[in-house]
Amino acid sequence: MSATSCTGSVLDAIGNTPCIELKHVVPEGCARIFIKLEGLNPTGSYKDRMACSVIEEAERRGDLKPGMTVVEATGGSTGSSLALVCAVKGYPFTVVSSNAFAEEKLKTMAAFGANVDIVHSPTGKITPDLIPSMRERAKELSQASDHYYADQFSNRDVLVGYESLGRELLSQIPDGIHAFCGAVGGAGMVMGVAKILKSHNPSCQVTVLEPASAPAITKGYGGQHSVEGIGIGFLPPVLDKQLYDEALAIEEAEGRSMARRLAREEGILAGTSTGLNVVAAIQLAKKLGPGKILATVACDTGLKYVRGDLYD
Ligand SMILES: Cc1ncc(COP(=O)(O)O)c(C=O)c1O
Repeated sequence: MSATSCTGSVLDAIGNTPCIELKHVVPEGCARIFIKLEGLNPTGSYKDRMACSVIEEAERRGDLKPGMTVVEATGGSTGSSLALVCAVKGYPFTVVSSNAFAEEKLKTMAAFGANVDIVHSPTGKITPDLIPSMRERAKELSQASDHYYADQFSNRDVLVGYESLGRELLSQIPDGIHAFCGAVGGAGMVMGVAKILKSHNPSCQVTVLEPASAPAITKGYGGQHSVEGIGIGFLPPVLDKQLYDEALAIEEAEGRSMARRLAREEGILAGTSTGLNVVAAIQLAKKLGPGKILATVACDTGLKYVRGDLYD
């Protein structure tokens, strides 16, 4: 790289991720499946996109000013991304998280200088009341003066960050995208991408996914599970019925085994939510059939999960 091609800050390295075709895990007779490698963002997750838009939109409106402290409740991916953006821009960051999430994420947030406040999960699992109680704590902390609550689950600024992902897909797959699917936590990623794909081609079929053990969208109730980042136990306010066609619940065990296959057969080291995305992508690609194209996302890097039991 020449000195003139050096970028301004690490924030310029967010986005423009590669998009590749899955070659080995997709059975015969299916539509082609393309996947964005979002683990190549600076903190190893697509959340870097929304952290940038959440902070920069708040700055643009004047809601966030130099010297203020940013507060958020997060399982750790959003927190790591916000911690990165706050470190670069010089904002103190207080994050409410839990022992239910990978220690790598908790340590990453601290490494970027965040003050990490833990809500203890007695089972070590993501229970239906965990995220709501983390949010309560974050709301309480953000009452202090000069604090800005990022509030990822209700903040529509997240959508701005993910629209770039949709635009990249359109330019990387010029033959057209017939369908898109993605697992839903706060729903920012799928909604931001769907907005772009559907405005380009209204017949593009968008499917939102959740763990079968926490079927808030498909059945109306939450449940205990271990898929980090999704299945938050309630309907995310950003989820817009106009922007998706179908919701599917996918077994966590199938997602985990697909995550392992993705590593061994495609060389994609990712987490369980990515495994869910690919399990659903294959189901949908079977229905679409040959000659069609489906896109999905590898949400984050599996390096965050190698110490857990995903790859045992
Ligand atoms: C690993 C992982 N997958 C999927 C998601 C879901 O993304 P979204 O909140 O945009 O729906 C998240 C969100 O935290 C995540 O961390």
